[in-house]
Amino acid sequence: MHRELTHHKLHQTLKLRAHGARLPPGPKTAKTGLAKPWLYFRELSAQYGDVVSVPGLSSNPTIVLGSARAAWDLLERRGAVYSSRPRFVVGGELLSGGMRGLMAPYGDFLAPLAQAAPLGLHAAPERRLESAVLVRDLLKDPGCFREHLERYAASVIVLVTYGRRVTDVASDEVVRRNVEAMGRLTSVNIPGKYAAERYPALKYIPAMFAPWKAEVLKQRQKDIQLYMDLLNDIKDKVARGVATPCFTTHLLEEQGALGILPTPLARRSVQTAGTLASFFLACVKFGHNFIPRAQEELDRIVGRDRLPAFEDMEELEYVRAIASETFRWRPVAVLGGTPHASTADDVYNGMFIPKGSTIIAPLWTIHLNEKDFPEPHEFKPERFLEQRDFPGTLGHTAFGWGRRICPGAHLGAASVNLNIARILWAFNVTPAKDETGQDIDVDIFAFTDGFNSSPLPFPCSILPRSQYHAEVVRRTHEEAVNELKVFDSSR
Ligand code: HEM
Repeated sequence: MHRELTHHKLHQTLKLRAHGARLPPGPKTAKTGLAKPWLYFRELSAQYGDVVSVPGLSSNPTIVLGSARAAWDLLERRGAVYSSRPRFVVGGELLSGGMRGLMAPYGDFLAPLAQAAPLGLHAAPERRLESAVLVRDLLKDPGCFREHLERYAASVIVLVTYGRRVTDVASDEVVRRNVEAMGRLTSVNIPGKYAAERYPALKYIPAMFAPWKAEVLKQRQKDIQLYMDLLNDIKDKVARGVATPCFTTHLLEEQGALGILPTPLARRSVQTAGTLASFFLACVKFGHNFIPRAQEELDRIVGRDRLPAFEDMEELEYVRAIASETFRWRPVAVLGGTPHASTADDVYNGMFIPKGSTIIAPLWTIHLNEKDFPEPHEFKPERFLEQRDFPGTLGHTAFGWGRRICPGAHLGAASVNLNIARILWAFNVTPAKDETGQDIDVDIFAFTDGFNSSPLPFPCSILPRSQYHAEVVRRTHEEAVNELKVFDSSR
């Protein structure tokens, strides 16, 4: 093993010489085991520049990108080279049997998934109806706003993927088992946990001699059981003629059987719910700067008699800017999603990036880069109304880049836009008050650890703008509940 490593190093050095270029600058040793590695990556970018090489995080070089321009140039423009995934020996190969799209290298297997995904993911009626439920939940029980956001996001994904609703996150079987599956995945995808990540041959040891492997395989059986149960449920509904069209029925029609396992929904609904939670946090801290202008726009374009609709979004320029600023200000995918891997040697601005490098483009650095976004921690929707020199069409990069760009971007962005419009149309969102009537301040840096980061619980006051607005919310909810009956899970 040692000889192999030495040989590998020699090979790298020769390659470096052949290219006349050096690895990007970076620290001699890296800090590992950090709860919030994105804070460290931002420090490294400030110290070493937009492209940093960080040793010792895996057996391959790790390259950390720190600007939208560098991420665009490599992950988007040179996407043919930068769209694979690092090897996930335990999480991808053993736990998922190579069937999880998220960790799959770019290639034949992923292409049909990437093409099929957007087809099943638009589902505008479901989102419109669930959003009416969300707004009524916020009216009825504003103290539990976080639970309502989570229910909304989970229900939209379960509707789109499996054609049934989630009415209560805490008691829903599919949500509970998906959250468990997600836990199994995150508990094995911890860098440095398994020697097999550095020495992949260890994965072939028979499970009877390797308790760690036996444990992982047992977890895998549970995942398979979950997806088989969901699939059988849908097949049964198709046979009885009561299935509503969804991503799974679409795949069944296309392929006759499922060749891929839909990735756990937990991660995806965390994105939407977390982004909306950050929006509430922004309202509490900075709402006085932007809510009046948004409500003026909503009153002018939508009026008082109905909730905003998808069709209004085109005209709601300022509300859209608020949504974009939310995606930028506190990106849930703090590390830029799952790392990419390069599949060929490359030179960028005179720096050598060897084949097989792990590429991380942390959004916490890219979205808080002062050159692109002056005063980055201030919430300023106006940024998105000005002409700015920024790669791409969105003005932010919350959905990733190139061939690995989030296939749910359309769904996620439309959900966030519509809900922000409806919430600001219906409510005044302000700081909560303490016993003495003083505003309770919130900490805009109090966020969770983990692969996706969202705000820790915080208090917030959500009150209807008027009784008339409250009435419209109740009426729209009643209509929505009637229309949603076709998705009733008990059928
Ligand atoms: C607010 C909403 C969302 C945000 C901000 C978001 C963000 C991201 C990001 C940053 C990535 C990594 C891209 C990369 O590797 O370059 C990603 C990947 C992914 N997202 Fe999303 N996402 C959102 C919603 C969704 C939804 C609603 C779905 C599905 C219904 C979804 C499905 C996926 C999948 C399957 C991948 C992996 C793609 C691949 O490996 O090629 N996302 N997302």
